[in-house]
Amino acid sequence: MTDDLFAEPPAPAARAAELRTQLHHHAHRYYTLDDPEIPDAEYDRLFRELQAIETAHPELLTPDSPTQRVGGRVLDGFTPVRHRVPMLSINTETDTEPSGARNFDTRVRRALGLAEADAPVEYVAELKFDGLAMSLRYEDGVLVQAATRGDGEVGEDVTTNVRTIQQVPLRLPADAPPVLEVRGEVYMRRDQFEALNDKQRAKIAAGAKGEKTFVNPRNAAAGAVRQLDSGIAAQRPLSFFAYGLGEITPPGEGGPDFATHFEMLMQLKAWGFPVAAQTALATGADELVAFHQRIGASRDQLPYDIDGVVYKVNALALQKQLGFVTREPRWAVAHKYPAQEQLTTVLAIDVQVGRTGKLTPVAKLAPVFVGGVTVTNATLHNEDEARRKDVRVGDTVIVRRAGDVIPEVVSVLVEKRSGEPEAFTMPRTCPVCGSAAVREEGEVDFRCSGGLFCGAQRKQAILHFAQRRAVEIEGLGDKLVEQLVDAGVVKTLPDLYRLGFTALAGLERMAEKSAQNIVDALEKSKRTTLPRFLFGLGIRHVGEATAKELARHFGQLDAIMDASVEALSEVNDVGPVVAQSIHTFFEQPHNREVVEQLRACGLSWEEGEPAARAPQPLVGKTFVLTGTFPTLSRDQAKDLLEAAGAKVAGSVSKKTDYVVAGAEAGSKLEKAQALGVAVIDEAGMLAMLAPDAQGLNL
Ligand code: IVH
Repeated sequence: MTDDLFAEPPAPAARAAELRTQLHHHAHRYYTLDDPEIPDAEYDRLFRELQAIETAHPELLTPDSPTQRVGGRVLDGFTPVRHRVPMLSINTETDTEPSGARNFDTRVRRALGLAEADAPVEYVAELKFDGLAMSLRYEDGVLVQAATRGDGEVGEDVTTNVRTIQQVPLRLPADAPPVLEVRGEVYMRRDQFEALNDKQRAKIAAGAKGEKTFVNPRNAAAGAVRQLDSGIAAQRPLSFFAYGLGEITPPGEGGPDFATHFEMLMQLKAWGFPVAAQTALATGADELVAFHQRIGASRDQLPYDIDGVVYKVNALALQKQLGFVTREPRWAVAHKYPAQEQLTTVLAIDVQVGRTGKLTPVAKLAPVFVGGVTVTNATLHNEDEARRKDVRVGDTVIVRRAGDVIPEVVSVLVEKRSGEPEAFTMPRTCPVCGSAAVREEGEVDFRCSGGLFCGAQRKQAILHFAQRRAVEIEGLGDKLVEQLVDAGVVKTLPDLYRLGFTALAGLERMAEKSAQNIVDALEKSKRTTLPRFLFGLGIRHVGEATAKELARHFGQLDAIMDASVEALSEVNDVGPVVAQSIHTFFEQPHNREVVEQLRACGLSWEEGEPAARAPQPLVGKTFVLTGTFPTLSRDQAKDLLEAAGAKVAGSVSKKTDYVVAGAEAGSKLEKAQALGVAVIDEAGMLAMLAPDAQGLNL
């Protein structure tokens, strides 16, 4: 043992050196290349490990340690900008439980010398946007410079790129002070990130060189801001939120005299800067805890990523009193949420079969807690995607779960791969039924050609038919369908209606009461509507809306079944691909047979006259419904409008023609007023529906 003492360096020194090398490498990938290899949570873990060693062994601290600097590096190619007021970093509360907020309040109170009996401190609670920090400098109301944070002292001049961000005002109202630096976050919305990556994938598929997809919205935003070609930057949709100030004309020289942080934010808003609507005043620790909890619960519904919330002491006088420790203000803290990216290993790659036979490769993962849930599966989308990411069994991968999107494998840590596991290839036969798997020209997906012969497709088809929005067979869920199909009792949809009580009650784990419930539900489902029935058949490309259009146009099922591709193409919103798909479906004798047998089993619906002659006064008009109407339910109003050819949308935009507002109409009404969209009431809507009133039935 004593020999070893001389033979090897002390473990902490070696580990610290190793960590420094790794952190330098990852910081370079992150800040300079905008292309990180590991999730932030992993970087933070390594960083904290190094910090802990350096705290325990101060003699090991080196001036070049990554723990000794605030931010990134200046990229060659952008002009350096020295910040007149440094861009600070912010201390992080890593306890992701809501109660973590109390630690901050305790520190603040102690530093202010407050006793327990003293009044609670007032804070501003904000979102912690996951983008990149930006300083916007306005002189005499004109945007003259936009700079990244860089190392906090010196950033990069990215003015040209930032000018392309629609939400950044280029000019301020006349009451803005002569000098104003607004600090905030540039970010990319999740939907825009997905769209950008779709575009990138299409470019790669078309053989474009040097293109890549982005790991997450933050890296896409950072990449866009630091894009040397501002033409490209302009094509990457970015957004901005303001949360603070840099230099500003002092009150003595005509600048504003703010007393609180909140007052300052409201003024920024009045000058035209986006300030997040969630920003709130919070009194004392309890309200901080509640804010963390509330935002945490709705985090997935936000259109952009946040990685936590930020609390700031509201009174600027108290902020001044609290001051700074090293480079972090004592008056602010970032309080994190569980990370949305984590490392895990791939145990297997399975292939799942969807309702239409689509084969999807799915990575089976060692369970990992990410984005607040335990994830064991992540989609690999399709063969091309799986091969592009080159995911192999045994690999260490980054999984990401943000918003309500399905967890996905972001990338592989190739350097951690051991041995030479085989690259993934899509099986050429269906893993469930053994039928040939085919990939049609121009398609990315492989499909099982087994149709309803394939057990997987059969199960999905039955579940689709039974769902609430189709014919609705209450109680017929995953497990039961699985049992019925595996036992061979149900092969086609009509088999469901031939089941009977005895067959159902005879199934394993099926109580008599449940069996009777299913029999009743089946009976009830027989009385349906044509659109529900059509949708339930699961014809490719025929969703609920198309099913409604078909039913309205033709009135009767037989007319649809016998319609030519041309006749089908005349239906609203039915293009050539959809028309062909419907035609092909009803051309198959076995599909017609299924329909006949379902009718024979007693499924029925009201058939109508072809609606082609009925006037459709509202074709091309988009409506939004809000509030409670005096006589109609929302659904009834929607049906009436759709029958008159209108579209009914869920949210108000510039494309909305009319908002129909009832009692207690909320934000949609406000938005309509803000956008100048016409607002009518129920009576006004009914008048538009009556062709007489419109003089349209001439
Ligand atoms: S305040 C003196 N507020 O988090 C305090 N920062 O280290 C300066 N961030 O990179 C920061 N949302 O870009 C503040 N509402 C918010 C924020 C926020 C995101 C980022 C900021 C910086 C990091 C703090």
